[in-house]
Amino acid sequence: MVGHLLTLKEYSGNWIEEVIEKSINIKLNSGKYDNILKNKTLVMLFEKASTRTRCSFETGMTKLGGHAIFLDWNTTQLKKASLKDEIRCIERYADIITARVFKHETLLEMVKYMKKPLINALCDQYHPCQTLSDLMTIKEKKGKLDGLKLAYIGDGNNVCNSLIIGCKKVGIKINVAAPKGYEPIEKPNLLTKEPKEALKDADIVYTDTWISMGQEAEAEKRKKIFPPYQINKELMKYAKKDALFMHCLPAYRGYEVTDEVIDSKQSIVFDQAENRMWAQLGVILKLLGKI
Ligand code: CP
Ligand code: NVA
Repeated sequence: MVGHLLTLKEYSGNWIEEVIEKSINIKLNSGKYDNILKNKTLVMLFEKASTRTRCSFETGMTKLGGHAIFLDWNTTQLKKASLKDEIRCIERYADIITARVFKHETLLEMVKYMKKPLINALCDQYHPCQTLSDLMTIKEKKGKLDGLKLAYIGDGNNVCNSLIIGCKKVGIKINVAAPKGYEPIEKPNLLTKEPKEALKDADIVYTDTWISMGQEAEAEKRKKIFPPYQINKELMKYAKKDALFMHCLPAYRGYEVTDEVIDSKQSIVFDQAENRMWAQLGVILKLLGKI
């Protein structure tokens, strides 16, 4: 049966660790993998905006000898035609497909008709590629995963849900501090409304935007609710002294994080962004049965 990556729930901690190890290996020895994706095509469907995801998938495919095609949902027939028909055509050309969609249900609909692997490039509920890259980055920086503590402060969104799934599978304890009504759908080790409580003994402090794509109409309301969850120098003091700061980007400076934190030595946001490329290559090789 073909394997997809939709939420990360599909896979075990061992699977995740194997992909991370492989991704680190590809990063350190990319020349060795030059041609491993020769004649392979990734089709990338985007219903909403992206910088990192689009670039990292596309450059990653080129690096390993393959090819990527970007399809904007709104300038293709996907906008008005039957998804079922479009997908059944696209997969005749593609070896593997990735899609960024508004609703998770769109991905579930797609896989009903697909015999090729589908990778979730972000939906309203999950962002599994981000989590794999985050775990890879943590492994590089801390040398381990099991036994660490991560505090996620802010909106219990797609990035938060996937982090909860991934962290728990690899033995990272994850605390989430979110306001009432903005809790994640997945269950962290500790859920609180109080950032200071979540930050206690944290090795990693993570946040994301207060207003995700598709939530623009709620912007003003959210900007009033979330300020106590801003990661600033004051809040960072409640984590471990050597805690790392992470953010999936794009960051809205002055809202969920201050300049002094995102620009500090503790911040590893650009390594996270780079690792999107390596971690996704690990996933692609795994789903294509190349590793
Ligand atoms: N982190 C992330 O997915 O970034 P983009 O929205 O730019 O792809
Ligand atoms: N939670 C954000 C992540 C962007 C990469 C969003 O969905 O817009």
